[in-house]
Amino acid sequence: MAKIKTIGILTSGGDAPGMNAAIRAVTRAGIYNGFQIKAVYRGYDGLINDEIVDFTTENVSGIISEGGTVLKTARSTDFATVEGRAKAYENIVKEDINALVVIGGNGSLTGAMKFAEEYDICCIGLPGTIDNDLYGTDSTIGYDTTVNTIVECVDRIRDTAQSHERIFFVEVMGRDAGFLAQNSAIAAGAEAAIIPEDSTDVDQLAQFMERGIRKSKRSSIVIVSESPKCGAIYYANRVKKEFPQYDVKISILGHLQRGGRPSARDRILACRTGVGAVEAIMQGQRNVMVGIRNGEIVYVPLSEAIRSDKPLDRKLIKVLDELSI
Ligand code: F6P
Repeated sequence: MAKIKTIGILTSGGDAPGMNAAIRAVTRAGIYNGFQIKAVYRGYDGLINDEIVDFTTENVSGIISEGGTVLKTARSTDFATVEGRAKAYENIVKEDINALVVIGGNGSLTGAMKFAEEYDICCIGLPGTIDNDLYGTDSTIGYDTTVNTIVECVDRIRDTAQSHERIFFVEVMGRDAGFLAQNSAIAAGAEAAIIPEDSTDVDQLAQFMERGIRKSKRSSIVIVSESPKCGAIYYANRVKKEFPQYDVKISILGHLQRGGRPSARDRILACRTGVGAVEAIMQGQRNVMVGIRNGEIVYVPLSEAIRSDKPLDRKLIKVLDELSI
């Protein structure tokens, strides 16, 4: 493989707070170490459509504190096709890009892995998703900010829940993973979390209702992981039907969870993994995601990072159960 001189960088999939800090980190660390940086706009679509520009340190000034992504993002359907990836590679060659840093979640890193399998390109992933569902890293960029945002929202919902003595079902994002629901429930002092990791063998709603609302506790908050079939609406409707004595409300937090200024934790994660991405390129690493495990930078093969079974710490379920009596 030719010596790497130019690093391309793009953000892909759902935006996440801290992506800008990661763009800044890769750009600055790259330039510091003598690389040329090319920014790709609109995710993989920008690779296919040649929306690629030179980036300097000035391009990333003042973005560390901003949510979203200055490079824009997309969930590219074209890149999922052989023809789309061929077009993307044509532009990679034309722009003389030798390494590509992809900041995104599961789908985006799957795209990077496929691309690297088909073409002679070094792909480095940075874990950019609010869902925290990438294997091999303790946390993903955007996850901490989103947990904080959810907790702030639930604190507010708690005021009205208590005043009206209601049960609130609050639906949060996370796709197929319950990290956001479980940890925001603990931090917000919610009465229960209904998460996908636990839904195969037990009826979580029945469990919650059986435990009952103690006499002195006349309101409750249940955080529910999003799901097309059994999200907050499903559980609220069940309670309305099975326990008509309760006053039940639904709050779906939606995309407000994805916006906002990144937390210090997410910024630090983005800065460290961004520098780690450039180090990986200099070390000759290929097709890995840069993560942090137990405080240390780790390089995880892309094929492992996208595994769908990142384990949720079961001890967290016990913590919530014990504290919500
Ligand atoms: O992957 C991030 C995420 O926010 C998920 O939690 C959610 O299911 C999905 O993206 C929503 O995607 P979109 O913004 O395309 O509706």
